[in-house]
Amino acid sequence: MKKALIIYGSPSLKGNTNALTNVFKENFNGQVSQINLFSTMQNEGIAPCNGCNGCNSKKGCVKNDEFDKILKDDYDVLVIACPIYMSNMPGPFWNLMSRFNFTFNNKVHLKQTISFKAKKGVLILVGGGSECKSLMGASNEDNPIRQAKYVCKKLNVDLENNIFLSLNTDKVPAINDVDVVERIKESAKRLSQQSESQNHM
Ligand SMILES: Cc1cc2nc3c(=O)[nH]c(=O)nc-3n(C[C@H](O)[C@H](O)[C@H](O)COP(=O)(O)O)c2cc1C
Repeated sequence: MKKALIIYGSPSLKGNTNALTNVFKENFNGQVSQINLFSTMQNEGIAPCNGCNGCNSKKGCVKNDEFDKILKDDYDVLVIACPIYMSNMPGPFWNLMSRFNFTFNNKVHLKQTISFKAKKGVLILVGGGSECKSLMGASNEDNPIRQAKYVCKKLNVDLENNIFLSLNTDKVPAINDVDVVERIKESAKRLSQQSESQNHM
């Protein structure tokens, strides 16, 4: 059975990000777990790197929170689902990105790297149609896609063509974005299928 880990980046558990994340969950025939980046519960969510430099002397990151679940590497599919904020990923996603600082310090001080198994990825981005021109890259979704790809690259996740954008949620709720919904369904079903070799084992 395939395992999916969802990195959920909206503060709303009932909005557009949630609607499309649910489409994925309902069509993924496997085990799903989720990290809510906006969670304020103790030991939930992912705190930012605070430059403690623990990773100068220990492999990985010394902080203990849900970042551990990401580094555990026990999932087959990584789903990143976020709204676009200021033409970028929301603040808590930057916490997550900053935690990969350990890779630099591990390499420089310990001459070590963590290798991750090859995995598939899905990116679900929603936006309300208005952008932040002074902070954006080539387009409203350019920086968020690059930021998601950064995390995927660090974790050996291949996004293939599984990038789903619903960028007019101010006019059309994401759940009514028929084409995107259909493509997420198809992707979830495909990614939860066992590969040929696993079927014959
Ligand atoms: C602080 C903030 C900044 C936002 N900036 C953008 C933006 O730059 N581009 C955009 O398309 N939508 C922007 N939006 C709109 C949200 O991306 C949009 O409403 C989205 O559907 C919210 O998803 P949710 O319902 O899962 O929270 C912003 C919303 C907030 C609250």
